[in-house]
Amino acid sequence: MAKPPIPLEPRKDSFQHAFKNMANLVFKRLLHFPSLPSTNTYLKGLAKRGEPEGLIVLADTQTKGIGRLERSWYSPPGGLYFSLLVRPMTITANNTPLITLTTGIAIAKVLQSALGLHPSLKWPNDVLLDRRKVAGILVESAFIDNAIEYSVIGIGINVNTTRMDFPESIQNTLTTLQDKLKRVVNLPRLFGYFVGQLEFWYLKLLDKGFKAIEPHYRGLCMTLGKRVIIDLGDVKLTGQAKGLEPDGSLIIQTPEGMKIIRSGDMISSKPNNTVEQS
Ligand code: BTN
Repeated sequence: MAKPPIPLEPRKDSFQHAFKNMANLVFKRLLHFPSLPSTNTYLKGLAKRGEPEGLIVLADTQTKGIGRLERSWYSPPGGLYFSLLVRPMTITANNTPLITLTTGIAIAKVLQSALGLHPSLKWPNDVLLDRRKVAGILVESAFIDNAIEYSVIGIGINVNTTRMDFPESIQNTLTTLQDKLKRVVNLPRLFGYFVGQLEFWYLKLLDKGFKAIEPHYRGLCMTLGKRVIIDLGDVKLTGQAKGLEPDGSLIIQTPEGMKIIRSGDMISSKPNNTVEQS
């Protein structure tokens, strides 16, 4: 059997250093690896064996990064690839999509406040800059009846890479912070900001519910009010994105009437020709 990967030495690790200086309530432990097949897969393995809420797994690069809809997530060195383990007691299984939406807000807020950028969110899980994808979110959960046993929140952010580091087929769909800012960003510091905001918005979701968060989501979301095409596999649904249901589903007005699309459904929204990084 292949040997398990070895995490980086905590004492010499600048990510651990940035992380330890934070007074976190939820995300208190960090495992940092030079390379993993996928941080989500690794953390799901630990979650299944009873790992408590609050562990983050970070990798400098991934060899089998996973995106939504069974796509792969290309993960060259210079990006941020990490997964966070939560066990939310007050969110029911059918409200799991709210975790994705809340995570998007946290990422966008960091890009705004720490870097002065103007991100937007493409429902349900894309963070865009200038209509190109800069970050993606993959939440994978296990349930016991209508309760969430665990959710692994996987986040991939294109930071100190350039579009040329990615396969040609997706170069026109994505952007990176380095391409946008024309400089390199301090990765450990940026990671610290993300963890701080993720914790803030996660706790707000638990304490106050999505109602308190929704105005922030609406302010950032570029899908609402737009004409969208949703690919449901066998049929394509065309209509106008009217709003959100309390569980985060998208309400679409179609010629046949209102339809509700859950975040789990495949979406290829084409108000602006953006495509998911695959
Ligand atoms: C998507 O937009 O399709 C979601 C991409 C999620 C990628 C991240 S990178 C860290 C974590 N580990 C994975 O294998 N995937 C997620």
